[in-house]
Amino acid sequence: MEEIGTSSLPIPPSSASPPHLDEDYPKDVMNSIHPPRPDWYEKLFAFVMAKGSKAYEAKTQIFTNLRGTDKTVLELGIGTGPNLKYYASDNGVRVFGIDPNRKMEKYAQAAAAAAGLPPENFKFIHAVGEVLPLSDASVDAVVGTLVLCSVKDINMTLKEVMRVLKPGGLFLFVEHVTAEDGTILRFAQGILDPLQQIVSDGCHLTRKTEKCISEAGFSTVHINTTFVSIACILGPHVYGIAFK
Ligand SMILES: C[S@@+](CC[C@H](N)C(=O)[O-])C[C@H]1O[C@@H](n2cnc3c(N)ncnc32)[C@H](O)[C@@H]1O
Repeated sequence: MEEIGTSSLPIPPSSASPPHLDEDYPKDVMNSIHPPRPDWYEKLFAFVMAKGSKAYEAKTQIFTNLRGTDKTVLELGIGTGPNLKYYASDNGVRVFGIDPNRKMEKYAQAAAAAAGLPPENFKFIHAVGEVLPLSDASVDAVVGTLVLCSVKDINMTLKEVMRVLKPGGLFLFVEHVTAEDGTILRFAQGILDPLQQIVSDGCHLTRKTEKCISEAGFSTVHINTTFVSIACILGPHVYGIAFK
């Protein structure tokens, strides 16, 4: 993955008070967006993700922009927490990880502990990206890696990202997107897309996620494209930073 020249971009200061968490989170709305999967399916998917996410070490780069003073970070679809190790553990960073799969929590909590995040600085929240249980303009950064392929509604999710970000807040992302029209890869993705959704909990192979991010209303968007060799059917990948 090539270098992103963003280390000099401004990181907004964190507010002293934590975001307000919505205690009356509408579980029925969440269930209509992401209907509960059978227990065994959630468990199996969480187990597979825990084994498989090591292949994405390439996403390290985007996280260099998060290091610094105290920040509040929201991670969309945190899964088993493979990104938790990228958050500085000694600067008071507070991380909220949302995911509709409850079986991810034990892995994410273990990853947070391994990363040295104090328990009070990491909260796993059972929720979906389309309806975030956080107050407006309450987080400094939102992180989403390999999740906009899986949400039911990308535009609704990005609208929520914009809502919870503070002015000047950043959105860091790594996503696999559809291949170019007319290519063999695009053809294969079209064939395999329905199967992928079944075996990978709603993951789509043919989304134009970069277009959605570009059109979501961020003031600045830096998007790069790359191929991850171990995941060619998922390729290409886009990664980058967007500022509210
Ligand atoms: C491919 S995994 C990626 C997990 C993690 N972000 C990573 O980089 O390894 C996709 C994650 O998105 C979660 N997910 C599915 N639908 C979602 C939604 N509507 N909102 C938020 N997360 C969702 C899944 O439960 C799963 O943990």
